[in-house]
Amino acid sequence: MALREIVKEGDRILTKKCRPVEKFDEKLASLLDDMAETLKVAEGVGLAAPQVGLLRRVCIVDIGDKDGLIELVNPKIIAYSGKQSEAEGCLSCPNEYGIVERPMFVTVQAQDRNGNEFTIKGEGLKARAFCHEIDHLDGIIFKQKVQRMLRPDEIEKS
Ligand code: CO
Repeated sequence: MALREIVKEGDRILTKKCRPVEKFDEKLASLLDDMAETLKVAEGVGLAAPQVGLLRRVCIVDIGDKDGLIELVNPKIIAYSGKQSEAEGCLSCPNEYGIVERPMFVTVQAQDRNGNEFTIKGEGLKARAFCHEIDHLDGIIFKQKVQRMLRPDEIEKS
């Protein structure tokens, strides 16, 4: 496993649409392993392939719950309901947070690293993370959907 550098906002790769994964090979497995390590070190809840410089429909989410790390290859939101408006950030936009409206519940269909299809549901933060990461695969950053950015004094120091 190796750490990969996280691309920052302003890099055009973050504005591009990613291509579907067709080969479920060693290269995909090492990308997923590297992304997992990179996410852990960065202490984020999700990371998408374009954030490590690859235009592939691959992302990972780990909100620290019992499901642990979720690997999503070629993910699609197939159902959603409800609404939530909470603060959201992105590893490509350090120290910036904004309020974004997202569905409260989503169902995602995706493939695992071996190409097997599965569906997974997310509620609250997990639904938000799925939406945020899948947006990255279409070249969309949360700041394009933000209702308002938080002021520095509103950002809780942890
Ligand atoms: Co992001």
